[in-house]
Amino acid sequence: MFSLRHSRRIIPHLNPTAYKNCRCSSDSIRLDSVRNKVKQGPGLKDFIVGSSEPVLLDRPHIPYLPDNAHVTFKRKVFFDVYGCQMNLNDTEIVWSILKNEGFERTEVEEEADIFLVMTCAIREGAEAKIWHRLDHLRGFKRRREISKNRDKPVKIGILGCMAERLKVKLIEKEKAVDVVAGPDSYRDLPRLLALTSSGQTAVNVLLSLDETYADVVPVRLNQDSVSAFISIMRGCDNMCTYCIVPFTRGRERSRPVNSIVDEVRHLADQGVKEVTLLGQNVNSYRDISQQTEKADTHMAKGFKTVYKNKKGGLRFADLLDKVSSVDPEMRIRFTAAHPKDFPDEVLQIISERPNICKLLHLPAQSGSSAVLERMRRGYTREAYLQLVEHVKRTIPGVGLSTDMICGFCGETDEEFEETMTLMDIVDYNVAFLFPYSMREKTTAYRRYKDDVPEEVKKERHSRMIELYRRKCQLLNEAEIGNTHLVLIEGTVKKTGQVLGRNEFYLKVVFDQEEILTVDGGRRQAKPGDYVAVKIQSAKSSVLGGKPLYHTSIRDFYRECCWSDRSRIRL
Ligand code: SAH
Ligand code: SF4
Ligand code: F3S
Repeated sequence: MFSLRHSRRIIPHLNPTAYKNCRCSSDSIRLDSVRNKVKQGPGLKDFIVGSSEPVLLDRPHIPYLPDNAHVTFKRKVFFDVYGCQMNLNDTEIVWSILKNEGFERTEVEEEADIFLVMTCAIREGAEAKIWHRLDHLRGFKRRREISKNRDKPVKIGILGCMAERLKVKLIEKEKAVDVVAGPDSYRDLPRLLALTSSGQTAVNVLLSLDETYADVVPVRLNQDSVSAFISIMRGCDNMCTYCIVPFTRGRERSRPVNSIVDEVRHLADQGVKEVTLLGQNVNSYRDISQQTEKADTHMAKGFKTVYKNKKGGLRFADLLDKVSSVDPEMRIRFTAAHPKDFPDEVLQIISERPNICKLLHLPAQSGSSAVLERMRRGYTREAYLQLVEHVKRTIPGVGLSTDMICGFCGETDEEFEETMTLMDIVDYNVAFLFPYSMREKTTAYRRYKDDVPEEVKKERHSRMIELYRRKCQLLNEAEIGNTHLVLIEGTVKKTGQVLGRNEFYLKVVFDQEEILTVDGGRRQAKPGDYVAVKIQSAKSSVLGGKPLYHTSIRDFYRECCWSDRSRIRL
């Protein structure tokens, strides 16, 4: 009646300490060991009226409540989201699961019965913000306990990467926390929350080899938004020495193509105009449930991985082909990518499809081959620069984005200067720049010394930012006089101007006016419209312009031939 695959969903984490240091995958969990673990806890029988046997469930829902748990009102959930875009999409998955179980959502703190904090562990600073938020929530919880609403106690759940990293330590350190749920246990949330009704704490931080939430249709937190996120894969196998993600998100696994295409179609039907495909390394996507005859592509010269190359199945190029064909008027973006996985077939399809945005994320992390080696990135500065050249040749007018870290273990002044020169050589349209933050568990933590003083990291960080801004300003000024295709998102609150984004995800603003429509009429721009905008002013992070006419992706690119595209730099 139940399969082993589902067994991870029924493990009761009633005794958090029994799961200390537990980092399992569904495949590694034997039913026997599950039963043993069940025996270690207070016992499921304590929670099921009239039953002495564990109940194994195929579908997650609130399966059993302790005798003394009386949920007499609809519980309202308040979401706090920190971290990357995957966390935003994960929150939409969580909301879908909870909504299905009858929970309600509120955006007003005072109305909330449950606070769910979707957390990030990437740097110490990210966690510091969350501890700060928890201070506030603890106070809120206490005030409710002595208020006239004390019959509606507040519960606090910590989800995501920090939950996975700290596990039960979170509850030990912050007594106000009631639930800890890692990125692969969101299906279990209704049950975990039900357990808190009797004052228990509940923890599920099991990682899985196959959980992709493929069958959960995320409920968008902002229904009015013209853009949406779709997770196409989870986890990461790269093990860059500085990074905590492989430990918090587990092994890499891809969601089946068909479920992704169905979701894109569903969003297109709802009027969504832009989807961003999400994953830690979207370009190493593999749907191995679908076998193909195609030979495996080789990694570009100068790139290698720490894991065995995956074989067979549908790859990222196949996915891009299918996803971009759903609706030619829907913009397709993707993030994050790894430089190692950009074979020509991926570059080709990006170049050929007008609706795939030509902004490529090529996170360099450092410009020094020695630092890259210590980071275990699998490429040298030279191989990276060759790739940049190749990408620019294959996709005329392509934009590039990057992530850079300064102050990694042992980084000398000279090595840092190489990062600066790389940023100078490559014209990045977008860059995310970070000072290194040592994370426990990572290889760097075990092998290297975090020996660059904080003030040196700070100074290097400021220099990177200054260079990046200066270069962006120049790049953007060069756009003045060009016409960009802009997808309208809304208005700027302060100025009332119309706000949209160009293909490089750069903000473009303009004063509202009536402009020509495709059928010869005139009307103002509204969210979801594509508008051709002539760029008239530039700052480092926003362009200003004049709207010319309403258009579509197909019409806009029909008007400028391919070679024009690089000249117009769209
Ligand atoms: N998988 C993605 C994103 C990973 S996290 C990628 O590889 O691009 C986003 C970024 O955070 C990383 O690219 C890296 O630049 C940065 N980062 C990761 N660990 C860090 C650490 N310990 N200190 C500082 N920055 C870090
Ligand atoms: Fe972290 Fe590297 Fe994986 Fe990106 S590729 S998530 S930086 S381990
Ligand atoms: Fe943070 Fe986890 Fe994303 S550590 S950056 S929330 S994958």
